[in-house]
Amino acid sequence: MNPTPKKIVCIGAGYVGGPTMAVIADRCPGIEVTVVDLNAARIAAWNSDQLPVYEPGLDAVVRRARGRNLFFMGQAEGAQKLAEADLVFISVNTPTKTEGEGAGKASDLRYVESCSQFIADHARGHTIVVEKSTMPVRAADTIKRILAKNLHGGTFEVLSNPEFLAEGTAIRDLESPDRVLIGGERPEPIEALAAVYRQWVPAERIITTGLWSAELAKLAANAFLAQRVSSINALSALCEVTGAQVDEVARVVGSDSRIGPKFLKASVGFGGSCFKKDILSLVYLCEFHGVPEAAAYWQQVIELNEWQKRRFADQIIRQLGASKGKVAVLGLAFKKDTNDFRESAALHICGQLLAAGLEVTTYDPQVDFTTFCQAAGISQGIQPAQTIQEALAGASAVAVLTEWEEFRCIDLTKMSLVASACIYDGRNILDPGAVRSAGFQLHSIGGRAAD
Ligand code: UDX
Ligand code: UDX
Repeated sequence: MNPTPKKIVCIGAGYVGGPTMAVIADRCPGIEVTVVDLNAARIAAWNSDQLPVYEPGLDAVVRRARGRNLFFMGQAEGAQKLAEADLVFISVNTPTKTEGEGAGKASDLRYVESCSQFIADHARGHTIVVEKSTMPVRAADTIKRILAKNLHGGTFEVLSNPEFLAEGTAIRDLESPDRVLIGGERPEPIEALAAVYRQWVPAERIITTGLWSAELAKLAANAFLAQRVSSINALSALCEVTGAQVDEVARVVGSDSRIGPKFLKASVGFGGSCFKKDILSLVYLCEFHGVPEAAAYWQQVIELNEWQKRRFADQIIRQLGASKGKVAVLGLAFKKDTNDFRESAALHICGQLLAAGLEVTTYDPQVDFTTFCQAAGISQGIQPAQTIQEALAGASAVAVLTEWEEFRCIDLTKMSLVASACIYDGRNILDPGAVRSAGFQLHSIGGRAAD
């Protein structure tokens, strides 16, 4: 076995695989990194000037490494690279199952299974297979079973190395991570992977654990983060009826060093590809392993989030009532600085507003409107705007759903809203004084209802 890997292949050029491999290649010029994907259009985009993922700083990293020691190619084309690889990362999607045992909760491992088969077909010599995708605890058993049965004479090890990057800050998170987690069963493969990360991550930030702990720790970390958002959102509803202000409550709670200030920002609800999917996976695991009480606890984090989105849209629908009218939706992405709208609040809220017969005009600086509508399954009653000004023209309500910087300082005096328009700030980013002095009513999350 080669203790310092020289060749890496990553299967899956998505939001996780692409940026992660770009940073590894950038920081480790002595390692050849090949990223393969079944999706030819995505690979073409990675090889172009218009990358398929919008992330601050990503362009520069890709420009430095691409063609030097970073390569993007189709999966079939990458088979030969796989034969030479010391490390193979699996970074394909692990969506929630839609049918069969565990439908609606359990992770669908079909892509992980087909990747394992692909590795078994092409790997030669000794190969360390690394789970980069978030997997349910004991998923490595599935990979090991497929490799053991189908590998042609080679040997393998399986490691869990979950990614903790957050979208919008992916490059910063990858270049300077809080920690890198490597779970495995034997020290040698763990050391081989740690040697890659040590080229830019301080050794004390590399945590090693058993395989099952690493798999579960990733689910647990996401569940803890989401739980904090649901906790503060639960309090936001109480703030609205008691006169307390959720941002003040969060500041006090977060100033306790045992709790800390992060992930206490009340919002219209968390989104993104991970939180809901990973908590559902955790719920399923709890049920499957006979701990329904723990399953119910985590399930409630999701229920609260669904309720938060629903009650935000309900407020608008109630306010506009029979007058109908147009709602300007600002922000389709699930957070700022990304073009990703998976599980975004906008997906849910646009659907609810349209179902209530309201007209919707949307503006987002990065999300493609047509792709958004296709994913949401909506076509009637919704239209795109090219600017904030255009979105707000003639609107009876404005819903701020993403905290894009350009929304913070909107000058409402320069917009042609209807005179009685209400502003619904789902991110608490607008200045209440400025909204008031422009003559509009502001509804924020958690307790600035009097404004
Ligand atoms: C995915 C998972 O959703 C997440 O749980 C995990 O932690 C990391 O991987 P992401 O990178 O955001 O996250 O997914 P996505 O952007 O959908 O990318 C996955 C890519 O894998 C797609 O480009 C898809 O075409 C590719 N893929 C999938 C393959 O190349 N081969 C396959 O067999 C299956
Ligand atoms: C998350 C985890 O942070 C990351 O470690 C993991 O690898 C993948 O899942 P991501 O989903 O990209 O990352 O973004 P994150 O910053 O965690 O935000 C998730 C959602 O929670 C967003 O919709 C965000 O707006 C919302 N959020 C976050 C809040 O509503 N309030 C907060 O205080 C923090």
